[in-house]
Amino acid sequence: MTDSARRIVLASRPVGEPKPSDFRLEVFPVPQPGPGQMLLKTKWLSLDPYMRGRMSDAPSYAKPVGIDEVMEAGTVSEVVASNSDKFAKGDIVLSRAGWQTHALSDGSGLRKLDPKLAPVSTALGVLGMPGMTAYTGLLEIGKPQAGETVVVSAASGAVGAVVGQIARIKGARAVGIAGGAEKCKYVKGELGFDECVDHRDPALAETLKAACPKGIDVYFENVSGAVWDAVFPLLNPFARIPVCGLIAQYSATEAPDMKYKTSQIFRAVLTKRLTIRGFIVSDFWGRFDDFIRDVPQWIKDGRIKYREDIADGLENAPAAFMGMLKGKNFGKQLVRIAE
Ligand SMILES: NC(=O)c1ccc[n+]([C@@H]2O[C@H](COP(=O)([O-])OP(=O)(O)OC[C@H]3O[C@@H](n4cnc5c(N)ncnc54)[C@H](OP(=O)(O)O)[C@@H]3O)[C@@H](O)[C@H]2O)c1
Repeated sequence: MTDSARRIVLASRPVGEPKPSDFRLEVFPVPQPGPGQMLLKTKWLSLDPYMRGRMSDAPSYAKPVGIDEVMEAGTVSEVVASNSDKFAKGDIVLSRAGWQTHALSDGSGLRKLDPKLAPVSTALGVLGMPGMTAYTGLLEIGKPQAGETVVVSAASGAVGAVVGQIARIKGARAVGIAGGAEKCKYVKGELGFDECVDHRDPALAETLKAACPKGIDVYFENVSGAVWDAVFPLLNPFARIPVCGLIAQYSATEAPDMKYKTSQIFRAVLTKRLTIRGFIVSDFWGRFDDFIRDVPQWIKDGRIKYREDIADGLENAPAAFMGMLKGKNFGKQLVRIAE
């Protein structure tokens, strides 16, 4: 066991895009577990867009990370010492240890992982919170029907990739929106979406319209901004819009300049009888057993593919996180802390 541990704390609240000085790397002594406690060593750290929200103290559904506190995160960790009867030394667990190499835990909220069932990193991606977000948001709110058109933004990412592939499994037509030709090629060629359009294309409204000749029945919103402006006129009567994320707005310092105003959106909600519903994955934890039955089976059957984008070393977490907010990640963004 090493004597010193490392952690990344929130040094300052970002104004606009986060910058390196908003984070601080600290070295601290490896903590010793007390009675009933365990020492966890982080193997994999998950980087997720919601962390931008935790860096801000604006009112939200979850409390912010405090200044000088460890950045919050899901991790896959190894139990390296245990005074608990719940988990033994050597167990691999899904935890919320945050951006640090070591953490103490009393076992609450931990889930033991079986490395024989799937690579343990997937517990942070396709078989974890992002996969569950895609599964529940699409099936509980989007309710795709065979033959319908499902559009998803951030389509090559951790959530979006799963949304489109489940839409296909349910017999719908899946259209992705992603940043750049390489991501679009992957979404169509590897993930099997029917179409994928590039949101950086200035003609996005026209390319999306051509990709959705029968309009849009389900729009899984991950982005907002110009992407929503292109989607909105194409929505069919009775379309469902699970509002999962608004990443184009997370670092905005003023209200985004969007084409359609509230009055136009409300008019369409009424006349087209649209369902627009926001959700947080925790609203649907009750469906975890269904998720963990279906998605591993779909992966085994080759019907769901996934991709991980791996940064190496805790010190590289801030850069990987800042890159992810700008679309530099290609697949679920992880940081490998220790093998
Ligand atoms: N409601 C919930 O409980 C819940 C849970 C998990 C995630 N989410 C949300 O789901 C969304 C996707 O999360 P994820 O973990 O799967 O991340 P991800 O898609 O793997 O990574 C984020 C992606 O967002 C896209 N993006 C960033 N800025 C953009 C912009 N201005 N316009 C268009 N696209 C932009 C980039 O993809 P491109 O290169 O394709 O632009 C980037 O790769 C986020 O909004 C996140 O907050 C919500």
